Amino acid sequence: MTLDIRGLSKFYGTYQALKDIDLSVGENEFVCLLGPSGCGKTTLLRAIAGLESFEGGQMMLGGRDLATIGARDRGFGIVFQSYSLFPHMTVAQNIGYGLKLRRKSPTQISARVAEMLALVRLEDFADRLPWQLSGGQQQRVAIARALAAEPALLLLDEPLSALDARVRAGLRSEIRQMQKRLGIPTIMVTHDQEEALTMADKVVCMSAGRIEQIGSPSEIYTRPATRFVADFVGSSTLLSPARARAFGAAPPADAPAGSQGDDRLFALRPEDVLIRPDASAPGLVRSITFLGNVSRIEVDWQGEIILAETHRLPEFAEGATVSLSLQPGAGAWVRA
Ligand SMILES: Nc1ncnc2c1ncn2[C@@H]1O[C@H](COP(=O)(O)OP(=O)(O)OP(=O)(O)O)[C@@H](O)[C@H]1O
Ligand SMILES: [Mg+2]
Repeated sequence: MTLDIRGLSKFYGTYQALKDIDLSVGENEFVCLLGPSGCGKTTLLRAIAGLESFEGGQMMLGGRDLATIGARDRGFGIVFQSYSLFPHMTVAQNIGYGLKLRRKSPTQISARVAEMLALVRLEDFADRLPWQLSGGQQQRVAIARALAAEPALLLLDEPLSALDARVRAGLRSEIRQMQKRLGIPTIMVTHDQEEALTMADKVVCMSAGRIEQIGSPSEIYTRPATRFVADFVGSSTLLSPARARAFGAAPPADAPAGSQGDDRLFALRPEDVLIRPDASAPGLVRSITFLGNVSRIEVDWQGEIILAETHRLPEFAEGATVSLSLQPGAGAWVRA
């Protein structure tokens, strides 16, 4: 079933939290809502869940208008940001809760609970209480509970944000594989670009209640449409059209004849820049930050700070003069 959202708007009093949202989620698709704190991600997820009213627009699921279906009857699986397990129920009781509400038989419930426990690899934890689990285990139970009733849509609001980096990375690929295996369309909220790029089929980049760009992870990264996306996803140096020409960038392919593309900026990733020590060149190395696999280099180039990158440690030091050039075909023109 596909979800289709058209022209959705949401106000809190006079504050507009969602502005004209158009979004579709296909069957078996994993969509990430990505954006900074306060941009409206949770509001949009809650509106889809039926937990939040909205003023304008329409949401259709498999051709049915969601406005006619109450939150409970939508049959969506939801996992919230903070752990939301029932504290007095065991793992098994938590997972089976929704099935019990649906008046499934005890045999059906225990079979499904066993299946879900195996799915999230917590077979040995069925009788524990939530406080006897680690954070990562608790979120796996929350996901199992959301999936138990075979939801038409899975909604995840930053399910991994409270976990440490290693557990988070492991759960990312677990959730992703589970989603592909079960084929349940999923919308996950995150403010972590790496999470969105590694997990999503489709990234929805949001800012201040608006969608800035929708695209595959590689489209979002290599062809950001707006200044906001170029800045928010990865690091970019943004150059004016005149500066971009001086740096060797070709003008935007779709710029009208005679126009200099004045409403555009040229976004340059650190790995788009070739950097070489050169005593007679105009670049001055301001700082070198060692990140392990690469070093991030800030270069003062004609008064502009340009971010570049080298493999491991560079063969020059801070204060060195360097030449900069553009990797062939690299960089992207974005709306200013
Ligand atoms: N119940 C409410 N009443 C008034 N304003 C609200 C309410 N809920 C959210 N907002 C405002 O709407 C905006 C969007 O909030 P939302 O919770 O959707 O952001 P978010 O993108 O999920 O942020 P975060 O990453 O911090 O969770 C924020 O400016 C917030 O202050
Ligand atoms: Mg939120």
